[in-house]
Amino acid sequence: MARGSKSYYRCVECGYSSVKWMGRCPSCGAWESFKQDQAEKESTKSKRKASLSPISGDFSKKEPRIKTGTPEFDRILGGGLVEGSVVLLAGEPGIGKSTILLQLANQIAENKNVVYATGEESFKQVALRAKRLGVTQKELLLVSETDVLSILNAVRESKPSLLIADSVQAFSIEDIQSAPGSLVQVREVTSLLVDFAKKTGIPVIMIGHVTKQGNIAGPKVLEHMVDTVLYFEGDSSNIFRIIRTTKNRFGPTNEIGVFEMTDRGLIAVGNPSAAFLSGQISEGGIIFPALEGTRVILSEIQSLVSESAYLNPRRVAQGIDHSKLSLQIATLEARADVSFAGCDVYLSTSSGLYVKEPALDLPAAISLYLGLTNKSTETIGAFGELGLDGSVRPVFKPEPRIKELQRMGVKRVVLPAYDRINLNGDNNIELIKVKKLGEALEVVR
Ligand code: TYD
Ligand code: MG
Repeated sequence: MARGSKSYYRCVECGYSSVKWMGRCPSCGAWESFKQDQAEKESTKSKRKASLSPISGDFSKKEPRIKTGTPEFDRILGGGLVEGSVVLLAGEPGIGKSTILLQLANQIAENKNVVYATGEESFKQVALRAKRLGVTQKELLLVSETDVLSILNAVRESKPSLLIADSVQAFSIEDIQSAPGSLVQVREVTSLLVDFAKKTGIPVIMIGHVTKQGNIAGPKVLEHMVDTVLYFEGDSSNIFRIIRTTKNRFGPTNEIGVFEMTDRGLIAVGNPSAAFLSGQISEGGIIFPALEGTRVILSEIQSLVSESAYLNPRRVAQGIDHSKLSLQIATLEARADVSFAGCDVYLSTSSGLYVKEPALDLPAAISLYLGLTNKSTETIGAFGELGLDGSVRPVFKPEPRIKELQRMGVKRVVLPAYDRINLNGDNNIELIKVKKLGEALEVVR
């Protein structure tokens, strides 16, 4: 072997590398999984030279985007598909990834060529689904194949405007010995697709499965390789299917698209606030305006507190973090002089939306308090972060939150004591500013 180059071994299951061969991989525990890899090139000998350019150059020209025909999907992409970009659409099996992409492919194929490559289903299976969805475009070509190189060869020839790859776990590269779906295959397939997109300018949307455990070779390890990551939130038992942008090199993140699964595929929900509130504000509801990307979406926070029949009372949170629920209960007990001892506590958002925002603290605390004291109140909106000392702190963007509450007919809102709130004179909503948790609870007492 040439001096300066190294030979090394790589686990075909998880990609762990080592300078010596091992019978068992110390990283993933697989037996006899080490194969000798190509010698590493010594980087210092490279003759290639990268070019340097001033950062202040004129880059104002916007990157060209392809509209998907569904504004809800364009919005989560940041305004459409960017040429040469790679989008990963991840989610649990059965949540609707193939369905929505087949629908999009059909819409884009109205005036452009699209190739849909499936390694999961037979030609007949996809064609049957296409029929059910009313997919009829002639410019939409289908290939059922698992060898990704052969797919790319075919695609290079037909030069479509979009390639859909379903799914990254089903494709493989023949030369690599590990099974399809293994970390090494998934990584190499992705890297081929990324390279293809960058070189040809053809955007690629690839599907990736995640499981509840999330421990298989899945989308998590690919996030850094692709430009945009879209996640189907939650599981398929929700009425609404929510797609969230968790990474986007060409637009904002945390944007969500709300869809409903029907017998004719996924349909965009035009007014998510109304949909999540079942069309109306329920009496005595605590309405939380969640900031989701650039939009505000309302959902109702509900809680149930009942005497427990268990030695260890239950604490169940739906749509919010479990530890957040415990923290809310502890804060209420310490700062509002109430006790949840011996009680089962359930807290949920009405929508199935998963809320991470600290702005949920205040409505959650008010809802828990009402659940505990069995009191009812008139419908109020609420948002604000709660400190451990019971102080109510300001959160981002109060104005759009208040406006959305107003739009849906909420008459009063409990919120942190902002110095200035500019509603452009348009305020037929009562703003109740509070500094302490106790003041907020006074409102519903
Ligand atoms: P699918 O898109 O195959 O999920 P994924 O590719 O994420 O694994 O299918 C999602 C589910 O949606 C499937 O169980 C059947 C259902 N479905 C409908 O309810 N209506 C439809 O029009 C279609 C095509 C599927
Ligand atoms: Mg599928």
